[in-house]
Amino acid sequence: MKLKNKVALITGASSGIGKETAKLFSKEGAKIILTARDSDKLKQVEEGIKDAESFSMDITDKKEVDDVVKKIIHKYGKVDVLVNSAGIARWGPIQDITHEDFEEQVKINLIGSFNCIKAVVSSMIANKSGSIVNVITSTVKNTKANRVAYAASKYGQAGLSNAVHEDLKEKGISVVAVYPGKTDTPIHDPYLDKNDTSRESMLKVSDVAEKILEAALLKVEDDVKEISINPR
Ligand SMILES: NC(=O)c1ccc[n+]([C@@H]2O[C@H](COP(=O)([O-])OP(=O)(O)OC[C@H]3O[C@@H](n4cnc5c(N)ncnc54)[C@H](OP(=O)(O)O)[C@@H]3O)[C@@H](O)[C@H]2O)c1
Repeated sequence: MKLKNKVALITGASSGIGKETAKLFSKEGAKIILTARDSDKLKQVEEGIKDAESFSMDITDKKEVDDVVKKIIHKYGKVDVLVNSAGIARWGPIQDITHEDFEEQVKINLIGSFNCIKAVVSSMIANKSGSIVNVITSTVKNTKANRVAYAASKYGQAGLSNAVHEDLKEKGISVVAVYPGKTDTPIHDPYLDKNDTSRESMLKVSDVAEKILEAALLKVEDDVKEISINPR
């Protein structure tokens, strides 16, 4: 029970990597706060997880994020772990990507992560402890074509993670960026025919969730800023 008595707030918990991380963290004894926009999907996930509670929350709406975090802190007194897994991918080359596509990805993948970190940070600083795990992407390490808006938003999220790591390491808070390669989740549904990638060649969500757990368990003294995981 590596997360006994810990309160873990997971964004993007209705699907894919966030959902699997929630299941794994629950097995490790954490109290799980599941968040995403779609409350019906969240309820379904909540039913299958021990000691979980869900809140519908759009991470681009800072008031919604702040309100959910206030409720959690009021009820449980703290957030020990924040996992920023919520994200979207709209792939396409520069000539096809619209301004709206670009802005939406930056708003969700970058500004959404910022909103969630801002909402928990004062309480973590006051407690002199906490762990923040940001789910980035291997695209930041090895950018391929058709990733204009996704890559830009994720480079931003990686920069955010690294800078917050430096800001918080003297305050007892560990901040780690996890860089997964292609992982078998619904995010790929619209693109499977266009990219010559099969689901079989992708990472399994359970492997990525294990890495996120590893990241969440790092101590601030370890001073680890990033962890990568790629398909073989
Ligand atoms: N799958 C991959 O190959 C892969 C590889 C590297 C990194 N990643 C990253 O891993 C993270 C999770 O991706 P995934 O593959 O698990 O995707 P997914 O299965 O599509 O799940 C995405 C999650 O994000 C939530 N979400 C999206 N927009 C949101 C918003 N504005 N506010 C709150 N929640 C929002 C979705 O729920 P709602 O729509 O209900 O809000 C859903 O729960 C993303 O950051 C992605 O970039 C994925």
